[in-house]
Amino acid sequence: MDWGLKNRLSRIIKPHNNRALMLAVDHGYFLGPTEKLENPKKVIAPLLRHCDSLMLTRGVQRTSVPAETDTPMVLRVSGGSSIIGEDLSQEDITVSIQDAIRLNASALAMSVFVGSKYEYQTVVNLGKLVSEAEQYGIPVLAVTAVGKELGKDARYLSLACRMAAEQGAHIVKTYYCDNFEKVVESCPVPIIVAGGKKIPERDALQLTYNAVKAGAVGVDMGRNIWQSEHPVAMIKATRAIIHQNANVDQAFKMYKKLASEDSQKKSKGKKQNKKKPNQNKSKNKPNQNKPQPKKN
Ligand code: 5RP
Repeated sequence: MDWGLKNRLSRIIKPHNNRALMLAVDHGYFLGPTEKLENPKKVIAPLLRHCDSLMLTRGVQRTSVPAETDTPMVLRVSGGSSIIGEDLSQEDITVSIQDAIRLNASALAMSVFVGSKYEYQTVVNLGKLVSEAEQYGIPVLAVTAVGKELGKDARYLSLACRMAAEQGAHIVKTYYCDNFEKVVESCPVPIIVAGGKKIPERDALQLTYNAVKAGAVGVDMGRNIWQSEHPVAMIKATRAIIHQNANVDQAFKMYKKLASEDSQKKSKGKKQNKKKPNQNKSKNKPNQNKPQPKKN
């Protein structure tokens, strides 16, 4: 493996423990303003330092992430269909390799839709993307199994993940399922698990724990982090499982403690905000001797 590729990969999957915590905020590319991700900048800001890498589109990277960050970016480079369109699987590559380099992407991500109408197109696109990205030492993450109509059992996921790896994907992202060990065993590259739709926090932590125990390098989680009432508490608890080998009880205890501190902080903030208008009234009383700025 070339030095650059190895170096970029090591920013995503930490070499000391072979684990990864990726925060997914790319949902808008086909879902639009997803619930609780309406303002990506606000969502990303408090979470950025708690994830190993951030998965996003170039639009969100440019508008909503400070360029000074040292968190690696996993750039989604595929798209073309929406949740209300005819077929979600009709995707193409939408970002040039030059732009990905300008954005200093640590990896490129695209979806493959095995078993769908556009299986051929997306699998061939993956092969082409790997060939192009490898010229610049950039790893490719293949996202498998998005879409309602496709089964998400070990048989299907093994097929999809293996096909992605055979095309040269360096990491494969998929869903957790029963007998997940089988999916991991038959995939020669690291597997990272998507969180899926929002479930109770403890269940999401259990999913993370099960996935890692079955051999996944970690999670690329979105909704179960930022749709939580306490996103920072949730990402820290998830991190404890991935990087500190916490079990589910320990991680959930941590979540509850941080969540209650967060609630206290928020209610204190609300009380202070209620007081402020009165304080401001007296402070901001126009000084009649000074000229006041014009109101537009
Ligand atoms: C969609 C994606 C998302 O990033 C992925 O689904 C992860 O997010 P979540 O944990 O919300 O499922 O790649 O194509």
